[in-house]
Amino acid sequence: MVLDNACFCGIKPITRDTVPYANQPFRAEGLGRNAFAAIMKKTIIITGATSGIGLEATRLLAGKGYCILAVGHSTANCEKADQDIRFGIPDADISWFAGDLMQQREVVRVAGEIKKRLNENGTESLYALINNAGCTRSRYMTTEDGYEQQFALNHLAGFRLTHELLPYLLKEGGRVIMTSSESHKNMKVRWSDVMMRKHYNPLLAYKQSKLCNMLFALGLSDRYGAKGLHAYGVDPGLVNTDIGNKTTGIVDFVWKFRKRFGVHPSVSAQDYLYLCEQCEPPAGLYFHHGKPKKYNKQVTTENATRLFKLSERLCGIRYE
Ligand SMILES: NC(=O)c1ccc[n+]([C@@H]2O[C@H](COP(=O)([O-])OP(=O)(O)OC[C@H]3O[C@@H](n4cnc5c(N)ncnc54)[C@H](OP(=O)(O)O)[C@@H]3O)[C@@H](O)[C@H]2O)c1
Repeated sequence: MVLDNACFCGIKPITRDTVPYANQPFRAEGLGRNAFAAIMKKTIIITGATSGIGLEATRLLAGKGYCILAVGHSTANCEKADQDIRFGIPDADISWFAGDLMQQREVVRVAGEIKKRLNENGTESLYALINNAGCTRSRYMTTEDGYEQQFALNHLAGFRLTHELLPYLLKEGGRVIMTSSESHKNMKVRWSDVMMRKHYNPLLAYKQSKLCNMLFALGLSDRYGAKGLHAYGVDPGLVNTDIGNKTTGIVDFVWKFRKRFGVHPSVSAQDYLYLCEQCEPPAGLYFHHGKPKKYNKQVTTENATRLFKLSERLCGIRYE
């Protein structure tokens, strides 16, 4: 991976040498040592942090000294991932939040817990949000809101979580990273049937959700770029994870074979690190291994605006 122009501004683990005035008596009134340390660090939220690319990215970013707010699907998997990471990095600054992000009400609940933590830390600003959680399906399945599950998790969850955390992101000129995929190419959004209720094809539904990641990244840049927010889509490449094996049917069958050709998730985790470590937010929308790359011609401002409006309606929210 090429990390040219990287100036490695992710702050290293806090030590007495790196914290200004650390060797002097603590004078700031009402500000405990933990709160002080939290202010000095950059906070990154990552979803889908318990396995695959998200787990390796959490390990990598925690090792670089970031304060990580990691979101997982279940408490059990969060605990497992926490133990796994702390085995190598015992003092990793990670807090875990569990919830089924496929369900809108769960996204709002988890976001509420995260906001509470940010306020408690006294940071009230967010350096980066990595919307990485994703799934595949072999057949048409819906959420409790009645939305197709890949669309709901891969796109709507990130759309809603970003909305909830937007004030924090805008405060610091934060970065939003959407985990897209090369599979977003050769695809159009089925505007008349975005849940693909008629003629469901799981692969096309996945491709569409990854196209939505790109459209959302563009939509965010269009709306908030002038306010200092930077949004990106990332192509992690073909990665050897269990994403296709968490569902039954044809996807499980095909993925068992296909994933053998994928890279280790720690390789793709570097894609997130690159976008976080650049002092100057990189110019470009779609990145792979530290380089901008071409994306689908469907990724236009017109389509991004259309998806924004549709997603706002489906989530019952308004981005200001
Ligand atoms: N693997 C590839 O080749 C590849 C290629 C391009 C793009 N991507 C994208 O990369 C991202 C990460 O995928 P991965 O390959 O690393 O797969 P993975 O190992 O299955 O990771 C997916 C993560 O999302 C979480 N998740 C799944 N359903 C969830 C839900 N309902 N609520 C909250 N969290 C949930 C999973 O938690 P649990 O395991 O606990 O459910 C897991 O932590 C996805 O967005 C995927 O589309 C992957």
